[in-house]
Formats: sequence, C-alpha cells, structure tokens
Amino acid sequence: MKVSIIGGGGRVGSCAAFALQCGGIVSEIQLIDANQAMAEGEALDLLHGSAFTADQRITAGSYEQASDSDIFLITAGLRRKPDESRLDLINRNVALFVQILESIQKAGMRQDAIVFVVSNPVDILTHLAGERLGLPWQQVIGLGTMLDSTRFSSLIAEALDLAPTQVKALTLGEHGDSMVPIWSASSVNGLPLTEYPGCGPGFQGQIFTRTRGSGAEVIKRKGGAGWAVGIAIRDVIHAIALDQRRLLPVSSRVQGTYQIRDICLSVPTVVGRGGVHQQVELKLWPKEQTGLQQSARALKETMSKVQL
Ligand code: LAC
Repeated sequence: MKVSIIGGGGRVGSCAAFALQCGGIVSEIQLIDANQAMAEGEALDLLHGSAFTADQRITAGSYEQASDSDIFLITAGLRRKPDESRLDLINRNVALFVQILESIQKAGMRQDAIVFVVSNPVDILTHLAGERLGLPWQQVIGLGTMLDSTRFSSLIAEALDLAPTQVKALTLGEHGDSMVPIWSASSVNGLPLTEYPGCGPGFQGQIFTRTRGSGAEVIKRKGGAGWAVGIAIRDVIHAIALDQRRLLPVSSRVQGTYQIRDICLSVPTVVGRGGVHQQVELKLWPKEQTGLQQSARALKETMSKVQL
C-alpha cells in the first residue's frame, strides 16, 4: 500500500510518516511538500532508519509520482497569524486546499484511491474534498475526532492512574469547539468508566474541558501537535491497509445518521479497505445526540461563510 503525504515536510506530515514507518504495515511512503528541500530532508532522515525498522520505500516526490497512491494523506495547512480571525484562516486554508486537490487531479489518481484529510478545519475540508474530487463518499475520510478521542482517553487515564490502553473514551461531532464527549459509552476494560472512583460529574467536566483545549495547549507550548496526531493517523491508515473494519470516530459525509445530513463530521464509522464501510447509529444519551446535532449546525454555519 502506497501512502503519499501532502505536507510531508511539515510537523504533522512528518510525524505521520514516522508513525507509519514504526508501524511497518504500508509498503511505500512518499512525501510531497511545497518546500521540496524539507520533504527531501525528512524522507532522507526516515530512510536512514529503515534498516532498523521495516522494508518500506520512503521517498520525496511530486504529484505525478504520487498518481498511483492508494491513499493521499493531506496534512498541509497554514497557521493563524496573530491578528487573524478563525474564519480568515479558514478561507486561506480553503484556497490552499483547493489548489492541492487540483494538483492531485491534474497529475491523475486511481479511481479507488482514498483521500484522507487532516488539515484544518478538517470537517469542512473533508466535505470540500468529496465535492471537488467527485470520488464516492466512502473514499473520503477526515481525521475528525480520532485525535480528540485519544487525547480524552489518555488524559482520563493519567488523571485516574489507569492504564491508557484500557480506557476507551470517545468524542464525536466536530473536530473543534462543538465536539461532544460520549460518557455514555466510556469504559475501562469494558466496565463503565463513569462508575470508577473519582470519575464523577466534576471530574468529567474538567477533563473534557482540558481535552477540548488540548490543541491550543500544545500550540502554546510547542507550536503545534505532532506525535499524537501521527499516531491517530496511523490507526486509520492501518485499518484501511489491513481491512480491519474498526469502528472509529473519523469524519465522513453523514446522510441521515443521528438525523444529520449533508455535512462531514465524526460519528461511529466502520473503516476498512475501501474506506468508510458504514456509519452506525448506536444509542447515545439524549444530551449527547442533541450535542451532535448542534455540532452539525455549527459546521453548516461555518460552511456557509466559506468563500469558494
Ligand atoms: C489539533 C490540530 C492538529 O487539534 O487539529 O491539535
């Protein structure tokens, strides 16, 4: 399986490449970046470690060389300028993203390729990718609340002194301010997490607020997320490569699940070789379901302000 990373010279793209290298599942990783020298440098640095990791082809290349990719992973994006509004950034990122989609199309792509969007605002850009590329919607996936869900579970585990891999706590909806914590289905080794000592309503509110602000917290400290987002990306790509059919909180076009339509956001989604196999409407608490619908409304409002 060949994965081309657009934005591979950036922090998120190179962290994803390293996670995929350590994962050792995909056969080829190609880095593309507007900064060609950076893509070449990252590819070379990764290549140097390949003798001790996995038998993979790791290169820097062009859109033409990427045309036979199984997965286009798009991580390229701009950062907010100090005096810039969120919407201004969205519009600048949309313009850049449309150029990337055009470059992919111009160079050619396989009809069964999967486009995996990580650039922000991820739900909006995932929707745009589906509309612009004319691919079946199953082949267009956004990272969505995968990252928020691993942050949520990891922070809960740290605070309650539990083993991180035994804590399963999801967030769904927008990857952004309106994301929804799904306490109804949170568990520790299959048992209800909300019953665990110390996990009362006060704790729940506090830890979710910290989770929602985690992106900003990391930006403040080190400029932007890298490692955790790379790991979350790897999880999705391995689910596709190995046809694992894992139920994941990725973003994809929702058509009726939880009475939401015509927008991309994260709902429980089965992911395998062809991309999205199915979105599943599992029972949530009423306030969680309302939260998801509010999240969809917030995204639609942003969408209506985007200049295309
Ligand atoms: C974050 C970015 C990657 O949440 O969306 O850190």
